[in-house]
Amino acid sequence: MLLGASPGHTPLMRNLATTNTEWAAEPSQVPSSSWGVTSMATPTAKPDTSRPLLLVVDDELPVLKVLERLAGRIGFDVVTCASGADAMRSLMRKPADLAMVDLRMPDVNGLDLLRQIRAAVPSCEVILMTAYAAVDSAVEAIKLGAREYLTKPFDFDRLKQVLEDIRMELERRAQVVALESQVARQLEFCGMLGRSPAMQEVFSLIQRLAPHAKVVLIGGETGTGKELAARAFHHAGTRRSKPFVTINCSAVVDTLFESELFGHVRGAFTGAVESKPGVFEAAQSGTLFLDEVGELPLSVQAKLLRALEYGEVQRVGSLQPKRVDVTVIAATNRDLRAEVAAGRFRGDLFYRLNVVEVTLPPLRDRREDIPYLTAAFVRDCAARVRKPIHGLTPQAERVLLNARWDGNVRELKNVIERACMLADGTLLSERELAGAFGPEGQATRPAAKARPASDAAPGTAPLEEIEREHILEVLRQVNGNRMAAAKVLGISRRALYRRLERHHLAAEAPPAALRRPL
Ligand SMILES: Nc1ncnc2c1ncn2[C@@H]1O[C@H](COP(=O)(O)OP(=O)(O)OP(=O)(O)O)[C@@H](O)[C@H]1O
Ligand SMILES: [Mg+2]
Repeated sequence: MLLGASPGHTPLMRNLATTNTEWAAEPSQVPSSSWGVTSMATPTAKPDTSRPLLLVVDDELPVLKVLERLAGRIGFDVVTCASGADAMRSLMRKPADLAMVDLRMPDVNGLDLLRQIRAAVPSCEVILMTAYAAVDSAVEAIKLGAREYLTKPFDFDRLKQVLEDIRMELERRAQVVALESQVARQLEFCGMLGRSPAMQEVFSLIQRLAPHAKVVLIGGETGTGKELAARAFHHAGTRRSKPFVTINCSAVVDTLFESELFGHVRGAFTGAVESKPGVFEAAQSGTLFLDEVGELPLSVQAKLLRALEYGEVQRVGSLQPKRVDVTVIAATNRDLRAEVAAGRFRGDLFYRLNVVEVTLPPLRDRREDIPYLTAAFVRDCAARVRKPIHGLTPQAERVLLNARWDGNVRELKNVIERACMLADGTLLSERELAGAFGPEGQATRPAAKARPASDAAPGTAPLEEIEREHILEVLRQVNGNRMAAAKVLGISRRALYRRLERHHLAAEAPPAALRRPL
């Protein structure tokens, strides 16, 4: 009699069933699989051709011998252990893909060992074996996540069938991983990944416009890949061998903006001991990336407009205009139309910049990209931290697919990197993700329908709110000194003022708002 046979689906099969619909949009591009995508081969990961590893734990030597021979013939590498303690040591040294565990052993109860294995290596499937079949322990084992419950003496046909099924499943997963890794590479565009129609459209736009566009505006929430898109523009254009120069407008001190952009001549102002070219000249014949262009002071906006219109810059302190031939790509996560309406951004500059406008969609609106991005991040990170991680468990995949991702791709990348650092096994599990998301688990909360941060669910902390609190905290630390606060925050004083205004704190520092609650 065989108790507790497979509960209908294996975890992998469950995964196939739930996620095939998500792939349904473009079946031709995607292997008929789960987003077991999860995993991509890494140089340090177990090669696809390697045999899966089976750990057998039983205090009866004959059972170990029989299973070692049989599983070896079926295609497993086998490690045998005669006690629970040995088994855990072996598992920590080399995570197994499958464990066969005896229910009754002198040093440990099989159910306890099952718990320990599931906690230590969540990706490891477990089969329980016993000569004393009892419905209770079978049910308990399945509840704890056991894959099968086999009785002794073995029904060898059944045993062979189970091992062959699992080996084939592991092989299928490895093939899927290799295939999806290949697809992911095909879907890469100048370092950007994306299989969603929205991202494919962005790639196509960049490809078509890059050879011609002289001024480009890139919009999108924080972490959506604006800088990456700017670089893609540069690489897809005719200037790829020329300089790509970046200036982050939120990090420049007000008084130095003009000199940073256009340069200065010796003696132009106190401290100008030598003549210096600005970023326009440095980017000559190449691309100038004006990051966070929404932070530019109005006075400088007028001068930037002139430079764009006439292709000329004038160093501070010089009357001599210089011709510059530069492609200008500006990026912002602000709604520049609203900034124009509010009088904080010049309308004429906005219309000069947005001749070619590309907006990167937030990650929550292109969830089909999550598996591909995850696969690439896991591959890169596993190689960097030298761990044989090659995917995620189906449960972990679901967590990522359903998270909110207010911080977009950057947040996903950070979560994967932290999870890889925490991981012990070959697959990242929910446990590592929980650690990677941090105690607040901001992104793990199920995704609400797309909504602006300001409309977040009660009890959540949208980025804006976190930014406001952080600014207040820094201001408290420096007793309300805004210059000092800007320094600590790594932004210009002007950028700080704008943020204070946005968070309705402009009139408050230093008094009431800054006082620490008692
Ligand atoms: N499509 C993508 N494919 C691969 N990596 C991506 C993609 N989009 C973003 N990233 C990665 O996410 C991180 C954030 O991207 P990037 O700095 O370009 O975002 P951003 O929109 O400029 O953010 P911010 O507004 O905060 O400056 C980077 O590490 C980048 O490599
Ligand atoms: Mg950026």
